[in-house]
Amino acid sequence: MNFIVIGATKGLGLCLTEQLLAAGHKVAAGAIVLSPALSALKEQYNEHLLIAEADVTNEEQIAAFAKVAHDFLGEIDALCNVAGVLLNNDRIKLLHECDIAELRRSFDVNTVGPVIVVKAFYPHLKKGANVFTVTSEGVGIRSCGTWVPCYGLSKAAATKESGIFNASVSDVNFFAVHPGRMNTDMGRTTAQIEPEESASGFCRLLTGETPVSRDNWYIDYKGDRMEA
Ligand SMILES: NC(=O)c1ccc[n+]([C@@H]2O[C@H](COP(=O)([O-])OP(=O)(O)OC[C@H]3O[C@@H](n4cnc5c(N)ncnc54)[C@H](OP(=O)(O)O)[C@@H]3O)[C@@H](O)[C@H]2O)c1
Repeated sequence: MNFIVIGATKGLGLCLTEQLLAAGHKVAAGAIVLSPALSALKEQYNEHLLIAEADVTNEEQIAAFAKVAHDFLGEIDALCNVAGVLLNNDRIKLLHECDIAELRRSFDVNTVGPVIVVKAFYPHLKKGANVFTVTSEGVGIRSCGTWVPCYGLSKAAATKESGIFNASVSDVNFFAVHPGRMNTDMGRTTAQIEPEESASGFCRLLTGETPVSRDNWYIDYKGDRMEA
């Protein structure tokens, strides 16, 4: 099968790209930079892997990526947008103390980024394709902790985007997915699982091994319903 992974430099995005390739699938991976780990995958899986520059805040770059990815893959079965940021001061500041630049950047990457991705890729996706945007837990309107407020706000809005996309079009299905608390650069301090475990759940979501329904569009990496 043919897949897009965006945010593939490290963490969950890198693990997911690796697992999809190891299972024999073709992947067009978008990354801000060509990390040594991605280069190594390219050496190993040359004909099955396309790597392209893809900063989700850059409309032109994502549009160009969508075109080359479609040329490389032909039919696109599913897309997974993993790209996300949790910025440093957001870990220690309350919302009323936050750096406005960090708030804006969190929204740019985590909330506006997924819309830029869907705008660019929607015309290239096969009918019935699934789009998975990695969001988070605790995104409900009444779920109001103080931890990482800029991140939490931006992921709450990103989660709702999948519902709005589903209401907007019927030929592609959109899902917001909580990946679990993973042991990555972002999640190390609160980790409960390794990114490999989450990635294998995402593999099953992308390939259809774990069935998904657009009526249940906010789920975790195992495909279980999340409460909004
Ligand atoms: N870790 C957790 O416990 C946890 C919990 C809930 C949700 N999540 C979400 O899960 C996803 C993966 O997280 P992770 O733990 O694997 O984090 P990570 O190790 O920090 O990886 C984040 C990835 O996003 C990429 N990225 C950042 N800004 C980008 C941009 N503008 N355009 C394209 N790519 C960009 C990074 O690329 P560079 O390295 O090149 O910047 C990196 O590949 C994120 O969306 C995160 O919010 C994580």
